[in-house]
Amino acid sequence: ISLKTLTTFGIAQQARYYTAVSNLSELLEALDFARQRQMPYFLLGGGSNILFTRDFPGLIIHMAIGGIQAQPEAEGQVLVRAGAGENWHQFVCWCLERGYYGLENLSLIPGTVGASPMQNIGAYGVEVKDHFAYLEALEVHTGEVHRFDAEACAFGYRESVFKKALKGRYIILEVAFQLHTQPKLRMDYGDIAATVEQLAAGAPPSPELVAQAVIQIRQSKLPDPAQIGNAGSFFKNPIVPEEQYHRLALRHPNMPHYPAAGGIKIPAGWLIEQAGFKGLTKGQVGVHARQALVLVNYGDARGEEVLALSEEIMQVVQERFGILLEREVNIL
Ligand code: EPU
Repeated sequence: ISLKTLTTFGIAQQARYYTAVSNLSELLEALDFARQRQMPYFLLGGGSNILFTRDFPGLIIHMAIGGIQAQPEAEGQVLVRAGAGENWHQFVCWCLERGYYGLENLSLIPGTVGASPMQNIGAYGVEVKDHFAYLEALEVHTGEVHRFDAEACAFGYRESVFKKALKGRYIILEVAFQLHTQPKLRMDYGDIAATVEQLAAGAPPSPELVAQAVIQIRQSKLPDPAQIGNAGSFFKNPIVPEEQYHRLALRHPNMPHYPAAGGIKIPAGWLIEQAGFKGLTKGQVGVHARQALVLVNYGDARGEEVLALSEEIMQVVQERFGILLEREVNIL
């Protein structure tokens, strides 16, 4: 089966077998199938954070466990549980329509609910961990289902225990979020407040307007995967020690920077733009013209071409700034 339509990068690598699973027993069956044939499996959600650089000799398991349930709690709190295969943005809209607030800044992020805690997705000043209650995950080698609270997930910037110590050992089945019925607007990131004001045209700001603002900003900067293959930010924003930041700032007084855990965060998009890559095209691959952090597939790129471009970017940024960028997209 071709993976072209199953990942947002739109790369036409092949996989030997494919199945979609919509409940736990189908998932266990799929895992058995792979185990009996002694072949690898790969769990795919929305395919929005993965780059295949070669054909996959095993079974692709497409997570399609659905269902959303809300449980009102005391003092304006709501616990909302969603199946791992639910589309993230549709889930955000579902909550917003019912007046369950908290996720509006995370509108229009591609991918699935199940993938969201994996890398603690975040945008415009909010991360999944801010509204996370717990998740349930299958421990692959025992077949047991375990519950993880936020602490057990060890969330960090685009990080969780599932990318580190427990990598490959669990499959997320369901995620529960702690939301509220009273809006708490977060509009301090970038252009959010200004965009909300413009959209509101005199009306008071609301979670719906914040969602609309986020959608508008994302659409103006980020390429739509349905039109141009991409996986959002290809790299993480690096966090450098303060001394290194101060040395760099002497040479680059206009360098944007934000305080972060463990040092100063510098936007990788700025570094890549300064390194001269913004808008650059190389054959079928390129660096997006409106957001240098996004690598794009203009048609029939191979995974290796995207990987090679990312290596070149890493090398030049390293030479120019002494910063080694870390990829955010998973490479297989
Ligand atoms: N910038 C440039 N040139 C560029 C892009 C960015 O100079 O081409 C500078 C600008 O100074 C800008 C700053 O970088 O003010 C920040 O840019 P932006 O607000 O677009 O955010 P980002 O840091 O590039 C991160 C996330 C995005 C998320 C946005 C908004 C990471 C790796 N990326 O990007 O997440 O949507 O913030 O919160 O942290 C994703 O993970 O796929 C993703 C799109």
